[in-house]
Amino acid sequence: MSRTFYVNGDFVPEADAKISVLDRGFLFADAVYEVSTVLDGKLIDNKAHLARLARSLGELKMAPPATDDAIVEAQHKLVELNGVDQGLLYLQVSRGEADRDFAFPSKPVSSLVMFTQTRKLTDSPAAERGIRIVSMPDQRWGRRDIKTVQLLAPSLAKQAAMEAGVDDAWMVEEGKVTEGTSNNAYIVTSDRTIQTRHLGNEILAGITRAAVLKFARESGFTIVEQAFTIEQAQAASEAFVTSASSFVMPVVEVDGIKIGDGVPGPVTQELRRIYIETARERQDL
Ligand code: PDD
Repeated sequence: MSRTFYVNGDFVPEADAKISVLDRGFLFADAVYEVSTVLDGKLIDNKAHLARLARSLGELKMAPPATDDAIVEAQHKLVELNGVDQGLLYLQVSRGEADRDFAFPSKPVSSLVMFTQTRKLTDSPAAERGIRIVSMPDQRWGRRDIKTVQLLAPSLAKQAAMEAGVDDAWMVEEGKVTEGTSNNAYIVTSDRTIQTRHLGNEILAGITRAAVLKFARESGFTIVEQAFTIEQAQAASEAFVTSASSFVMPVVEVDGIKIGDGVPGPVTQELRRIYIETARERQDL
């Protein structure tokens, strides 16, 4: 069955989902995006995703393409039209179509595109065995807190990781891990202590990160928000990543060195279980 896409107010078959070659998202990566989880046909933490979208738009002085209510209505319709039970909903806003010029158009009209991917998220073979990571220099720009579609550097890093025979990359700047190619990175340093990089311009403030840290605190874990090195990760008892698409995903090897016993550890498994359980109760829109 062909998917239905949302393009600037219309629900259209995939083959007809098109925007202009003069769209600034295509010419300048002048666009931002969000990825929301769909579980049991419902959007998870969508309010937080839309709040981050509003922040990204504000930081780039880009006009919102529609009201939140209109976006949410379209999101629900798209999930329903595509019959998504588990998967992802991608939403992209660009500064729209204008003749090519580095300066913004005088009267920009933002474009809004949405599509879904059906994917099994809860029963994941990767989560059962854990993923292997290599480190790479972080070659991205200085405002990674804005969720832009400038994804070439992380895409190259992910491709290089896969060509190296592993699953993903952690990016390193000034000797410290920033984050994964499309996720936030964590280590478990000693009994019930979790360390992850502090928020700032260097990383994306993950919606999953906020939820997982909240549950971790409520479950009695100590949270240290401080950047760590690859060596610290290799010496940790566990490591994991979080994102809307992977939830809490164990990392079992970093640059060829096994983490702990080289299998998903109990803290990571507990957090993944709590995250999925509570996500089902957090359908907020
Ligand atoms: N990626 N850091 C980066 C660089 C990301 O691209 C993402 C999300 C995250 C985690 O954010 P969240 O918990 O809000 O999903 C951290 C999405 C899933 C993607 O691009 O597919």
